[in-house]
Amino acid sequence: MHEKEVLTAAATSVAQASSVPADIQIAEDAALLSSQLSGMRQWLFPPNNQKSLRTFSSGEAARLIGVSDGYLRQLSLSGDGPQPSTVSQTGRRSYSLEDVNALRAHLAAQGGPKARQYVRHRNPDAGEQLQVLAVTNFKGGSGKTTTATHLAQHMALQGYRVLAVDLDPQASMSALFGYQPELDLNPNASIYGAIRYDAERVPLADIILKTYFPGLDLVPGNLELQEFEHATPSYLSMRDAGKENPVEELFFARVQAAIATVADDYDIVVLDCPPQLGFLTLSALCAATAVIVTVHPQMLDVASMSQYLFMTSDLLSVVREAGGELNFQFLRYLITRYEPNDGPQTQISAFLRAQVGGRVLTAPMVKSTAISDAGLTKQTLYEVGRESFSRGTYDRAMESLAAVNSEIESLIKQAWGRA
Ligand SMILES: Nc1ncnc2c1ncn2[C@@H]1O[C@H](COP(=O)(O)OP(=O)(O)O)[C@@H](O)[C@H]1O
Ligand SMILES: [Mg+2]
Repeated sequence: MHEKEVLTAAATSVAQASSVPADIQIAEDAALLSSQLSGMRQWLFPPNNQKSLRTFSSGEAARLIGVSDGYLRQLSLSGDGPQPSTVSQTGRRSYSLEDVNALRAHLAAQGGPKARQYVRHRNPDAGEQLQVLAVTNFKGGSGKTTTATHLAQHMALQGYRVLAVDLDPQASMSALFGYQPELDLNPNASIYGAIRYDAERVPLADIILKTYFPGLDLVPGNLELQEFEHATPSYLSMRDAGKENPVEELFFARVQAAIATVADDYDIVVLDCPPQLGFLTLSALCAATAVIVTVHPQMLDVASMSQYLFMTSDLLSVVREAGGELNFQFLRYLITRYEPNDGPQTQISAFLRAQVGGRVLTAPMVKSTAISDAGLTKQTLYEVGRESFSRGTYDRAMESLAAVNSEIESLIKQAWGRA
């Protein structure tokens, strides 16, 4: 057959195979696939509480609340105040985080000097400002998402009202919270929806999702975030040409402006930055009241970190000259995936501490298979139980996490002027 005949035959067979025009056929396929996909999503990841937080033993609950195990038992036996939601036949009490929070509120309501320790919410009347922590470094794999997610969850477990914001188009933080970025591509589902320049903009409150952690809300990330990198230059040039309202916030003030609209609902915001120094990261840094730079102690990582700091400082100085506010309560380097038995790593950590001493967090986050294994199933160490790992492995990782997160928590308390 000649080429032309082949084409004609092919066209005829397509025409015979379907009397429906191709555009309609494709639209039907798309509709079918998308309904199947959302069905699959409902099944794999039901929208609310697709994940559930484990319960806590009475010992764990007592530590979270800050009372002795004996006192908690006494509260439970006396029937005074909120009770644990489950008591096993052998009398073992387990507490959900809701139970823990109810107990905190109950104890705080009794007043007294310890009330503040039970319910730790910030007190705006005493000048305690919203703390916005940006976890950043343009090196991928430096532990930003792991740090940011565990930090947000730690703070929620401690009873703070937390908003976690995923600024990475790859959305790995959202994935840890059970949101699948590939499937959740609805428009205005990320913070982009609240900082975009056009009329499609929506309030941040409309984008915020509840998570299975009481007290911890999420602004998920998705590919749409990338739009901000494209939209900003064109907005800037339109603005320079006088075609846009010049009163609107410039790019570097937009994340801050969006967060300000929900500030009253939270004590702490944690921003998981993307691994690049674009407009979004700059806007996040301008919104930040504090910054954590994650560093894996390898020569290359430290070299790229200093490069990152040079570039960040250059760009931030431009932002500052343009009127951006850059007053961090604290900036700290966090050593991540640390292996204390690795010679070069200990040397590089020591070098870093010698150079920028006071700004390196005392506690490093150790490398642990508990963290990486939990990550494989999109979980954090706060979700998986101790039974999932050998005790030593789990306990060492938890100890390291507790040390890192408590150190950051005390910096926040300092920023609030608490003892
Ligand atoms: N302390 C740790 N121990 C073991 N693995 C870790 C640790 N911190 C991070 N990881 C793993 O390293 C990888 C990169 O970490 P991630 O937090 O996603 O980095 P980033 O957000 O900077 O790209 C992930 O697979 C994560 O599970
Ligand atoms: Mg990340």
